[in-house]
Amino acid sequence: MLVAVLVILGCAVADVAAAWDGSRFVWYTTDAGDNFKNGLPIGNGRLGAVVFGTGNEKLVLNENSVWSGPWTDRANPKSKDALQNIRESLISGDITGAGQAALDNMAGNPTSPRAYNPTVDLGVDLGHGFGISDYTRWLDTFEGTASVNYTYDGTSYSREYVASYPHGVLAFRLSADQPGKLNAKFSLSRSQWVLSQTASVNDGDGGHTVALSANSGQSSDAITFWSEARIVNSGGDVSSDGKTISITGADTIDVFFDAETSYRHPDGDAAQTEVKRKLDGAVTAGYSEVRSAAIEDFSSLMGRVKLDLGSSGSAGEQPVPTRMSNFKQDPDADPQLMTLMFNYGRHLLAASSRDTGPLSLPANLQGIWNDDYDPPWQSKYTININLEMNYWPALVTNLAETQKPVFDLLHVAIPRGQAVASTMYGCDRGFVLHHNTDLWGDAAPVDKGTPYTVWPMGAAWLAADAMEHYRFTRNKTFLAEVAWPVLREAARFYHCYLFEWESYWTTGPSLSPEHAFVVPQGMNTPGAGEGLDISPEMDNQLLHQLFTDVGEACALLDLGSSDDAETCTASTETYLPRIRPPAVHPSTGRIQEWRSPDYADTEPGHRHFSPLWGLYPGRQLATSPDLTAAAEAFLDHRIESGSGSTGWSRAWAVALYARMPGRADDAWRHAQALVATYLLGNLWNSDSGGDSVFQIDGNFGLVGGMAEMLVQSHETVAGSGNGTKNGEEEFVVHLLPALPGKVPDGRVDGLVARGGFVVQELVWEGGKFVRASVLARNGEVLRVKVQGESDGFAVDGESYDVDKGVETTTDAVYEITAI
Ligand SMILES: *[C@@H]1O[C@H](CO)[C@@H](O)[C@H](O)[C@H]1NC(C)=O
Ligand SMILES: *[C@@H]1O[C@H](CO)[C@@H](O)[C@H](O)[C@H]1NC(C)=O
Ligand SMILES: *[C@@H]1O[C@H](CO)[C@@H](O)[C@H](O)[C@H]1NC(C)=O
Repeated sequence: MLVAVLVILGCAVADVAAAWDGSRFVWYTTDAGDNFKNGLPIGNGRLGAVVFGTGNEKLVLNENSVWSGPWTDRANPKSKDALQNIRESLISGDITGAGQAALDNMAGNPTSPRAYNPTVDLGVDLGHGFGISDYTRWLDTFEGTASVNYTYDGTSYSREYVASYPHGVLAFRLSADQPGKLNAKFSLSRSQWVLSQTASVNDGDGGHTVALSANSGQSSDAITFWSEARIVNSGGDVSSDGKTISITGADTIDVFFDAETSYRHPDGDAAQTEVKRKLDGAVTAGYSEVRSAAIEDFSSLMGRVKLDLGSSGSAGEQPVPTRMSNFKQDPDADPQLMTLMFNYGRHLLAASSRDTGPLSLPANLQGIWNDDYDPPWQSKYTININLEMNYWPALVTNLAETQKPVFDLLHVAIPRGQAVASTMYGCDRGFVLHHNTDLWGDAAPVDKGTPYTVWPMGAAWLAADAMEHYRFTRNKTFLAEVAWPVLREAARFYHCYLFEWESYWTTGPSLSPEHAFVVPQGMNTPGAGEGLDISPEMDNQLLHQLFTDVGEACALLDLGSSDDAETCTASTETYLPRIRPPAVHPSTGRIQEWRSPDYADTEPGHRHFSPLWGLYPGRQLATSPDLTAAAEAFLDHRIESGSGSTGWSRAWAVALYARMPGRADDAWRHAQALVATYLLGNLWNSDSGGDSVFQIDGNFGLVGGMAEMLVQSHETVAGSGNGTKNGEEEFVVHLLPALPGKVPDGRVDGLVARGGFVVQELVWEGGKFVRASVLARNGEVLRVKVQGESDGFAVDGESYDVDKGVETTTDAVYEITAI
């Protein structure tokens, strides 16, 4: 299967110039000007580049561990003694007093963790100012490469840009259609904290060097980095003024770039040795080999999933600005733009999140791409939705390995969170995270406001993601070595932290992320907007999932007589049965966001859908028709009141509607609205549309939501069948659960379902399922639903028996056909 896809990709390359595949290429007839948000992003999971493609080229280059400073302990030691009073104030209804006391005693000091920072800009002065014609610039989402072609003064110039995961470098080639035509001056620059800047001409064949090293701030223990571009010319003359390299009359010029930091190499010599090792390796291999290895690696990830939502005809072959403006008028005329957004989202994920060693870092609020020393929200890891949303495509679109950096960061964060649990909550076991973290695993509360700061639930959400990774991959080693420590340490914190209220184990002070309620009569201060409370709905859903997952992991890992046995039994016997079940508001019938039905929303159209966590990405609400209906009422009300007001909020709405029977058209409507409203010039998602700030979560969330429309697998078959091998849950592979009327014909190959099933092929026509083939990676019982039904189809020619499912053999493929 994979081989076949690769061959197809290989053939398609030759056709590039003939016609632009509107599902694959992000292309333009103009350069990015001076706007970062028009640039083309490529990356190898650690190094990123944004290509401007201007006559005099500018590349914004990033290394993902260049952040604004060293670890700081921000835990507020006053918290431990204040906690009990704050809790009691909340219980007794002094909401405003408790909120103020919480901010005074629990906010971190300083209030913010570290910010993600730019690394360097690479300038390539070609002397091509005015007079450029026949200009084309494009990103190939299948290969992960960018290119620029144009004519200047009678010569055709080409530039290629590739980010190599195998060689660990970025590589660029400049060429012309006539010999001796390339004149270029190379420089690395940075506006802050530069330590040294050098350039040198090399008489051998190791390439000429421009290098820049800098600190990420003024403190003596700032993160330091060493960056270097190695320039290899074919033909021409080379000179240097000590800071730049100038080449005249060359035929081609290749550039290789690396940067290494003290985050991963505390010994500066080791960092510099690593830069040299990678660049020597790339120069020795040569540009062509670096490029082909990079493309082979990247396209093997991209090629695992192929989506076809129908052709746009010539409308899809237009450059992106034309397609975007047409799409705003008539989104239905260019279904391939939706497919392109799907492919682009997967490109962005593979480019910004790879296993690059033990301290891999995940995609932050801007993935890996940043040109700002003070980026919005510090471009950090916001874990009350955004980081998690970044990984919504990972499992279902067969990019499970892109999640590894999340677990590496958790490994770093656990000891930080243990320290904060002890200092601030008096809990000597377990770890806590609040609503943000940074590359140091910062665990203290962030910012200072009652609707967001004191939310001790970040680790619970991430623990759920670890368990989901196991459900999709069935990797027992991962469950034992990576997921279990996260689940165990999260559970241990809550065993200490939760208190009993109305017979339930309850959180507080806590909140429903970023939303506030109107304090009702009879509480203090009536009419005030406050965020802090006890027992917000989302917390209960997160705890339900956590203790359920702990129980499952304990059984699968057979921990009954291990040192962890007490954590297992406490979770399943003491805590899980007494987590407050999802509340439905008695008069509105909606999921109730807060502890009391008397609380009113301050923002009925709030962007977060926190109380629907258990519908998506969780499943507590999704597996109950009554709770799904209450979630539907909640979401409809939010949307009618103006929600979906950020790109990522729209993406979440897509996934939520996809999980509601009969709401596929609404899911699609929100997906189209995201694309029509929230994209920047280069198709990055923005916070609030127009030219507002770049925030990558919406790009990723859209892919996750679209996948959720095509294949779902969160439903389990409890009690039917006799269990799969190893006593795992049996998941239902649901094909086309939310197919919208506007996408009547299509095909998707390669989506993944829980239980280790790969839907290698899925075809529909006229709005109806036609056929699918499913690979059973793990040989579990295959349970199937098609478009909401458990009948009307055959598996390997036999009518499907819903009571039995299909016993599968590991690595065998099962054909499902409509009857
Ligand atoms: C770009 O230029 C190269 C070299 O001249 C050529 O092979 C390629 O077909 C061009 N591609 C496009 C899309 O113009
Ligand atoms: C399973 O998980 C372990 C631990 O995370 C990892 O090293 C290994 O590569 C995984 N196996 C597969 C096949 O992905
Ligand atoms: C129970 O599981 C066994 C082994 O997996 C299988 O052979 C058998 O058919 C199953 N029985 C039912 C009723 O599903």
